[in-house]
Amino acid sequence: MLDAVRVFDTTLRDGEQSPGCTMSRDEKLAIARQLARLGVDIIEAGFPAASRGDFEAVQAVAGEVGSADGPVVCALARANRDDIDACWRAIETAAKPRIHTFLATSDIHLTYKLRMTRPQVLDAVRTMVSFARERCADVEFSPEDAGRSDPAFLHEVLAAAIEAGATTLNIPDTVGYTMPDEYGAMIAGIRERVPGARNVVLSTHCHDDLGLAVANSLAGVRAGARQVECTINGIGERAGNAALEEIVMALHTRGGHFGIETGIQTRQLARTSRLLAAVIGVPVPPNKAIVGANAFAHEAGIHQDGVLKNPMTYEIMRAETVGLDGNALVLGKHSGRHALRARLESMGHQLSDDEFRHVFARFKDIADRKKLVEERDLEALVVGEVRRPPPLYVLRHVQVSCGTELIPTATVRLVGPDAEVRTESAQGTGPVDAVCAAINRIVGDPGELVEFDVTAVTEGISAVGEVTMRVRERRAQESLHSTDAPDVHIADAERNERFPVYSGNGVHVDIVVAAAEAYLSALNRLFHARAESVRGAQHSLAMTGAA
Ligand code: KIV
Ligand code: ZN
Repeated sequence: MLDAVRVFDTTLRDGEQSPGCTMSRDEKLAIARQLARLGVDIIEAGFPAASRGDFEAVQAVAGEVGSADGPVVCALARANRDDIDACWRAIETAAKPRIHTFLATSDIHLTYKLRMTRPQVLDAVRTMVSFARERCADVEFSPEDAGRSDPAFLHEVLAAAIEAGATTLNIPDTVGYTMPDEYGAMIAGIRERVPGARNVVLSTHCHDDLGLAVANSLAGVRAGARQVECTINGIGERAGNAALEEIVMALHTRGGHFGIETGIQTRQLARTSRLLAAVIGVPVPPNKAIVGANAFAHEAGIHQDGVLKNPMTYEIMRAETVGLDGNALVLGKHSGRHALRARLESMGHQLSDDEFRHVFARFKDIADRKKLVEERDLEALVVGEVRRPPPLYVLRHVQVSCGTELIPTATVRLVGPDAEVRTESAQGTGPVDAVCAAINRIVGDPGELVEFDVTAVTEGISAVGEVTMRVRERRAQESLHSTDAPDVHIADAERNERFPVYSGNGVHVDIVVAAAEAYLSALNRLFHARAESVRGAQHSLAMTGAA
């Protein structure tokens, strides 16, 4: 029998921490359900002490996805009592809960960030891991920035964590600094020299700053790690985390080399990647390994010829294995309710009768325009129409005039709250700027546009263009640097809580229309979050009054 490695997915925690990947509670739940279908062993659902929203999202995942035959539900806590208590309260309803606590061990973090001595760190690890163990039988400890820590001190801290009851030791290369041979040697050194290390699970956690996160994770597995921490599409802090789909398919495709299996249902990989991209509005680059649109496309004639004669000439794995196969071509305009319902259920979407009626009507619209509706269209439809709250503003009309002798000018018509129709015109430095300025005139306080990205989805002069826009919340009188949190993870979580970034997508043959759709979709997410935060504040006020 092959040896097995556990897959620990941190898309909802480390992944969500990166700007533009903010998810609501319901969006996190939809992703968590799909992660369970994918077969991950552990879902890290969030960082409960970071914000009320994250606490509630973790609680919802623990309650709804954390069943006895489902994944372990884990949440992050700094090594202090308040964080660990909040973490435990958020996950305690899961059948298999796990507390993940961390403290940095590198001198640079001790001196400048924590202002703690080595003995103080050792003491905190002992006390806090046993505090977590009093609440939960499954405790993971991470020495943050292990990759740049003095090995002797790292080993001392890890031995203390094991003695205090840690069941998993996760070894983060927090800043993506190590090389694969160094990372592998670090895991091997821990296994050999830390007392008790062979009785706990060693885990990899690699960031991609030098593009080595997957290579480092695999080197860790070769050296004895039996848990890999990773995210779907490799999302995460800065350059991201190790991509789950890449680690899993490397182990799968090179089974003879590694001799290690995972419990992942590989045919769910493409679907999970698409769902995440649709939810956060961050498209997968076409050349992304495993799940990119071109990952299995053969352009060169010589390649096509070879693949037709024998696919193994240029393909090391089959598109079917990762779920990128014929199931893409699914339904046409003559397909009935039953076929659509069955297809949605096979994709994991259980809709109420009302939701289904709505989706069916929209499906018919799309099928009228396109001969075949693909699974990715259905995914976008369900995320857009059902999982996402109804948009506050809907685009009705956009018109621009621009050219060498003209000042770019746009006219935009939106249907807003209470079905009010408003039309505004504005000028800008270019047609897209003019469209955004006209939209801003209608919606009022729009936040700050931080990114605008255009890609061609299809080829040729009539190519369909995809635009992604990111809008950051701007709160009066607060600066982006005003957080004084002593830890980068809590600082990032606080920054994302106070200045969250919302992404929106638009796809159209006219790039200006795609931009208008993308901008409006990002703004709709921002306005929805504002309304939620007001509702949350009113709720807290009511609770305080009642107490
Ligand atoms: O990168 C890191 O160090 C982390 C820890 C909190 C595990 O994400
Ligand atoms: Zn990390």
